[in-house]
Amino acid sequence: MKLFIDTADLDEIREANDMGILDGVTTNPSLVKDEGNVDFHEHVFTICETVDGDVSAEVTATTVDGMIEEAHRLHQVHENVVVKIPLTQDGIKALRALDAEGIETNCTLCFSPTQATLAAKAGADYISPFIGRIDDLSSDGVGLIEEIVQIYDNYDFDTEVLAASIRHPTHVKRAALAGADVATMPFETLLALLDHPLTDRGLERFLADWEAYKDARKAEAGLA
Ligand code: E4P
Repeated sequence: MKLFIDTADLDEIREANDMGILDGVTTNPSLVKDEGNVDFHEHVFTICETVDGDVSAEVTATTVDGMIEEAHRLHQVHENVVVKIPLTQDGIKALRALDAEGIETNCTLCFSPTQATLAAKAGADYISPFIGRIDDLSSDGVGLIEEIVQIYDNYDFDTEVLAASIRHPTHVKRAALAGADVATMPFETLLALLDHPLTDRGLERFLADWEAYKDARKAEAGLA
């Protein structure tokens, strides 16, 4: 399973990348807005130069022609850019056209298996089901991942399932068990994947015992 970070914050991206386990980055217009007064294309370029992996950057046009034009511009920014296209009727047409040109795409804002099926048929490289936002409506976000994985397996679609809108480690675990190809998550969720109180307590005890062992050795050698 590939792990992506869902942010446009360069400090977070660098720190996650330094861990050596990062496979890519996803951004969206809201995350770019959070970075303040940055030039969008320059910022995307910097992210691409920071991480060796796919970097999703989203179009904001809503017409086929507008999306394709923005996709061309984003594609020129860096070879690692994957163009994010919203799951609308125009988006499906744009995905089809971009696939024919060999431009990589991530179809975003997916909330149903039938949407995911159309995105795959249109040649999307990634489909992004937003599982946290589905859970927010008291529905089952990971259940959607399971259904999409099943449909893609049934028909050998190549589109990779990218579990998005992840809120906590259980989402990551359940997406992995469901067979998602990728999970993208905020930096704090990535760090939370590491957390376990028994690890902290166990390490504390090992280190205390190691100090006691060294003291005992010194005492026996008459050095205490
Ligand atoms: C995915 O690519 C989206 O940027 C993201 O996961 C949305 O997450 P949110 O629902 O927490 O905004």
